[in-house]
Amino acid sequence: MKHLLSIESLTAPEILEILDLAAKLKATRGKETHKPLSGECWGLLFSKSSTRTRVSFEVGIRELGGDALFLSSSEIQLGRGEPIEDTARVLGRMIHGAVIRTFKQSDIETFAALSGIPTINALTDEEHPCQILADLQTIRELRGSLDGLKIAFIGDADCNMGRSWIWAAARLGFELRLACPELYCPPAELIASAQAAGGLISITENPEEAASGADILYTDVWVSMGKEEESEHRAAQFGPYQINDRVVAAAAPGAHVLHCLPAYRGKEITAEVFERHADAIFQQAENRLHAQKAVMTLLRSEGV
Ligand code: CP
Ligand code: NVA
Repeated sequence: MKHLLSIESLTAPEILEILDLAAKLKATRGKETHKPLSGECWGLLFSKSSTRTRVSFEVGIRELGGDALFLSSSEIQLGRGEPIEDTARVLGRMIHGAVIRTFKQSDIETFAALSGIPTINALTDEEHPCQILADLQTIRELRGSLDGLKIAFIGDADCNMGRSWIWAAARLGFELRLACPELYCPPAELIASAQAAGGLISITENPEEAASGADILYTDVWVSMGKEEESEHRAAQFGPYQINDRVVAAAAPGAHVLHCLPAYRGKEITAEVFERHADAIFQQAENRLHAQKAVMTLLRSEGV
């Protein structure tokens, strides 16, 4: 693995290798002697807001022996129109690795191709692979294994999280049910190609049908970053796609409810359901640190 650009671009063995190392790093946190980023400076280029991703990368890079440089796009020339191609060729000569949060997936792919340094997708409009890796780590901790799981994603299935779940299902072979309004379904070609790759993926407009017998209920915001102008229309469309007591009651007994955060109570999830499942949800947030340390360690050992 030279970069982490998407879940789509990973193989099942690569995903499992990251998860195994993440578990090990979590168990040995604070006691590690191996510092794979020693003497390195990694840049965080962010064009969107972040709490978890920014902090977990800054802390993780330091714990691996490196230094982190936070570069908000509004403060560097990228934000004034300097091309990503030029930014990549400049930063590639100065920093040792890049963590990028932006809009277009093609921008991180261009950066990876031209910078010559390991590049990590810290969220684009198309995928959020770091979050999915932490989620898979959490599900393994909660359920012991990813085998035979039924996961229901309820809400904006066409957002970065929905799409990363689709590719995770294709790679790992668990069952994924998507519940979303017709207008916000992922493109049929995307679903078809994930199904052709082995994904047991179904789509319904009925959240209780998706939740029926599911082991995990998952949701994300109705209005992703960059979609704020659609807020009103989305609120009307997604109203029926809330994780509430009725939807939880349809799931398997003991089902877990997960959320990538930030959460909007009363929108995609009720305050009551959120609080009842808060331990697992904040375990997901913590696992961002461990999963990303695993990714950076592997990128460094096999790297560009
Ligand atoms: N889940 C997640 O990526 O959170 P942030 O937007 O706070 O980084
Ligand atoms: N789909 C959300 C994820 C936030 C972590 C967004 O893109 O805003």
